[in-house]
Amino acid sequence: MKRFRWRPKMKFGLGVLVRLAFAHCVSRPFLPEVHLSSGMTRSAMNKSESSSVATARTYYNSSPADKFYFAIWGGNDIHIGLYDSPTDSIAEASQRTIKRMAETVPNFSSNTRVLDLGAGYGGSARWLAHRYGCKVTCLNLSEVQNERNRLVTNKEKLDHLIDVVDGDFEHLPFENGSFDLIWSQDSFLHSSKRKAVVSEISRVLVPEGGDVVFTDPMAAANASEEKLGPIKQRLSIDTFGSQAFYEQEFRRHGFEVVSFKGHRDQLTLHYSRVLKAIEGQKEALAKDVPADYIEHIKAGLRNWIVGGQEEQLDWGIHHFRR
Ligand SMILES: C[S@@+](CC[C@H](N)C(=O)[O-])C[C@H]1O[C@@H](n2cnc3c(N)ncnc32)[C@H](O)[C@@H]1O
Repeated sequence: MKRFRWRPKMKFGLGVLVRLAFAHCVSRPFLPEVHLSSGMTRSAMNKSESSSVATARTYYNSSPADKFYFAIWGGNDIHIGLYDSPTDSIAEASQRTIKRMAETVPNFSSNTRVLDLGAGYGGSARWLAHRYGCKVTCLNLSEVQNERNRLVTNKEKLDHLIDVVDGDFEHLPFENGSFDLIWSQDSFLHSSKRKAVVSEISRVLVPEGGDVVFTDPMAAANASEEKLGPIKQRLSIDTFGSQAFYEQEFRRHGFEVVSFKGHRDQLTLHYSRVLKAIEGQKEALAKDVPADYIEHIKAGLRNWIVGGQEEQLDWGIHHFRR
């Protein structure tokens, strides 16, 4: 498999300021000063990197975002959890999502070559590698998260199974037919080119017998543009994906729709839990994360919660097969 070569163009030493524009759950006007750690490099991943990709990358590389996600999710996952009981922790529920997704894949084995798109800190990759002994390639545009991923993966002695690649899922740096399973959790919402993402998935998946399993916060079937407008504006995205969009796009590339297991209630529950966790860890968070950042996160979370409650948003596990 051809590895993507990362050729840094500019070096950003300590003290270089990056202006942020948006986040998964942060409102748009939040523009904190962010210091990339010394030795941290910023690459032009791809000359055709879209502005939504550049924005997501800047955001996830930022120190407040990194510290916030690390503190709340525990350094493994940054995705919506599946809660069985009100006492489940965010980490437990997040792992349950991974397990439930993995169970949808038939014949998952040590021979299954997995590509995780937007892999975050690599928690899912490590879970899968531990559980099945399979090889997982983590593709993620945040170099800060990728560094954390490599460190923990090394600590858990999984380097022989997990490869962490700096890259953008709108332009995958892999040869055709390189993977048996494409996996992704709550990452495609950041793309303004979801058709290109599906096309790239189709290209790098084996032509026959390949599976695609992913989750993504989406627009609900009967969502009103008026109600989604402010949510999209706060996220700096023009569109959300939807179940109908993904089904149409994957069918166009010769996939069959195996299943969609909808869990909109879990989206609402999860973001309510994150909001509660912020309150619970207020003092500890305040040491590392600026107060205005936390306030903007909270406003973004309330948006998600209302969007779920008003059935404007949807979330669940997609499974496509070819
Ligand atoms: C909400 S986090 C989910 C992380 C991980 N999937 C998990 O479940 O823990 C979204 C992730 O998508 C990544 N991402 C966003 N846009 C991307 C792109 N165009 N290419 C690669 N990764 C991207 C971010 O860097 C971030 O790691």
